[in-house]
Amino acid sequence: MRPRILVAGGAGFIGSTFVRTCVEVSASSIVVVDKCTYAVGLNNLAEFNDGEQHRFVQGDIGNRGLIRDLLREHRPATVVNFAAETHVDRSILFPEEFVQTNVVGTFHLLDEVRQYWETLPGVSKDSFRFLQVSTDEVYGSLAPSDPPCDENRAFAPNSPYAASKAAADQFVRAFHQTYGVPTQIARCCNNYGPGQYPEKLIPLAILKALQEQPLPIFGDGNQIRDWLYVRDHCLALLKIIESGLPGEVYNISARAERTNLQVVRAICASLDETRPRKSGTYAELITHVADRPGHDRRYALDSSKISSQLHWRSAESFESGLEKTVHWYLDHLDLVMTVANGRAYRDWLAVNYEQRRFG
Ligand code: NAD
Ligand code: DAU
Repeated sequence: MRPRILVAGGAGFIGSTFVRTCVEVSASSIVVVDKCTYAVGLNNLAEFNDGEQHRFVQGDIGNRGLIRDLLREHRPATVVNFAAETHVDRSILFPEEFVQTNVVGTFHLLDEVRQYWETLPGVSKDSFRFLQVSTDEVYGSLAPSDPPCDENRAFAPNSPYAASKAAADQFVRAFHQTYGVPTQIARCCNNYGPGQYPEKLIPLAILKALQEQPLPIFGDGNQIRDWLYVRDHCLALLKIIESGLPGEVYNISARAERTNLQVVRAICASLDETRPRKSGTYAELITHVADRPGHDRRYALDSSKISSQLHWRSAESFESGLEKTVHWYLDHLDLVMTVANGRAYRDWLAVNYEQRRFG
């Protein structure tokens, strides 16, 4: 029988890429459980409905009864948790949802996994893994001259989102230390690629440029993020599941630090090539707007541990990954515009950007 993976939050941007990557490169069968929040807008796992090898279940990781039933029925060898509220700006406006899903929800999932894991026979118990998909944001902001964060860096989360992810990491660690559950934590830098909801910087800038609308840059735009193509992240997660040790934390990064202005200018240059404006360049649409409160200045991760111990390397450069991403949005414009014209997305733009005096 194929090893089974339960993927929580598998319909989102990274989760759905992980599911497809898994199907492509491993012999696993997959069960997805996802609440299907607004964030699944650009992803479609319809092929997972009612298949023999793959199943899709709509549900909340905080629903203990549902999680218990899924664990009993499918008896996974691995559980991977992507499920989360993920947008920093939303966490500033609506922090409670982040505590509910990212902290309480993760705790409920973890505690049900613990009880299931305790029933497993010897070999299955040893080889079982619970992988928590975490973020570099738990380490907080770096000064320009600081070295990149390694896995031992102290936590200093600055947004409600980062605090909720840090709290979840602490429970995941505690369940390994206290109960011996074979948990692992992956902390990745900023992802980009096909299917990301256009609330995040890269898809938002692509969409706004195509709509000939201002491209909003928070503050001076010199904040630095460390970018990784989403498929490279998913291949790293598979390495951790296959070869990583229980109780360990692995940072994931390709050391592609860019300022936000560099990122948006690169998107503009790519669109100038592939879809020129009638007159002028897309960079002329760049507009500085009010900054994000508590905005982290710089993220950078040291991922030498996963490179040296698990032999993971990224396949895409920032330039090649961005090219693929821009092309994906151009090739899926109908779908992207359906999301962009939907009520949920328009309401979000009004809430987040009108207060920044941006129209
Ligand atoms: P996303 O917002 O695109 O997807 C999140 C998914 O979780 C959605 O499918 C949503 O429906 C689901 N979900 C939300 N609440 C749920 C609940 N209570 N129960 C079940 N499902 C629920 O986010 P993403 O960018 O794909 O991020 C996935 C994970 O990776 C998150 O845990 C995030 O913290 C982490 N991460 C993201 C990045 C990034 O740059 N996007 C970087 C590092 C880590
Ligand atoms: O670092 C990993 C994290 O990356 C993940 O854990 C989060 O889930 C993910 O959302 C992302 O967080 P960021 O806040 O870094 O991503 P976002 O795309 O929202 O913003 C990237 C940078 O761009 C950040 O400095 C804020 C800035 N920005 C963002 C938006 C949406 C703008 O200047 N203008 C914008 O309109």
